[in-house]
Amino acid sequence: MRKLILILVTTSLSVIGGVLAIMAEVGYYTPPTPSWFTGSTEDKVEKIGLIQPSYADLMLWTGIRLDELYASGMSGKSEYAKHQAIKIRETLEKAALVDPTRRSAIEGLLSANYPGLIEAIDSKNPDQFKAAFGKLYASCVTCHVNNGIPFYPLIPTTSISPITSGSLEFLEEIQKHLRQEQEKKLQQEQKKK
Ligand code: HEC
Repeated sequence: MRKLILILVTTSLSVIGGVLAIMAEVGYYTPPTPSWFTGSTEDKVEKIGLIQPSYADLMLWTGIRLDELYASGMSGKSEYAKHQAIKIRETLEKAALVDPTRRSAIEGLLSANYPGLIEAIDSKNPDQFKAAFGKLYASCVTCHVNNGIPFYPLIPTTSISPITSGSLEFLEEIQKHLRQEQEKKLQQEQKKK
């Protein structure tokens, strides 16, 4: 009897697994809806609005990206610096949407600094980068001063991203280590045989 139950359970589990796998493959499977996502469409839209990032949240991201921009720009990681410069622009555009009263100041910052900042990063010239970064930094601080917020200046500190602290040499070292582990395993298996 026990054996029969076991067989039944394992077969039904594999059937369910198979169905889910097929559904995922053809795009039918969707993750469960969060429990708070209830009510009329209006209620749902309101709830989604309430959990969107605030203006200050977007500023915080902008500040983190400014740090990353500085760290990567100063260490010559120009692809990553460019990524940060573009993300700062995108985040500020979102901030203008969240607080339209600040749109003109944000657009002022963007037109004063872009595309000059991107060109400076592409130039791979440290002096040009420093000058463009300084200009952006001054634009951020100007708006903060104009808004009477006391936490200026935003001095870039150190990068928190694994991208800026990582390197190709580090990746190669990890790959070498993984290869050695693999070889060890193979040797052990061969010994057993
Ligand atoms: C349009 C004006 C304006 C511009 C431009 C602007 N900021 Fe802000 N920033 C603000 C205001 C206003 C706040 C305070 C928001 C609040 O408390 O709700 C703020 C807050 C911040 C904060 C603190 C967020 C927190 O809650 O911890 C950071 C970090 C920040 N800004 C970074 C930047 C950086 C970096 C730039 C430039 C790339 C920039 N800001 C450009 C207006 C601006």
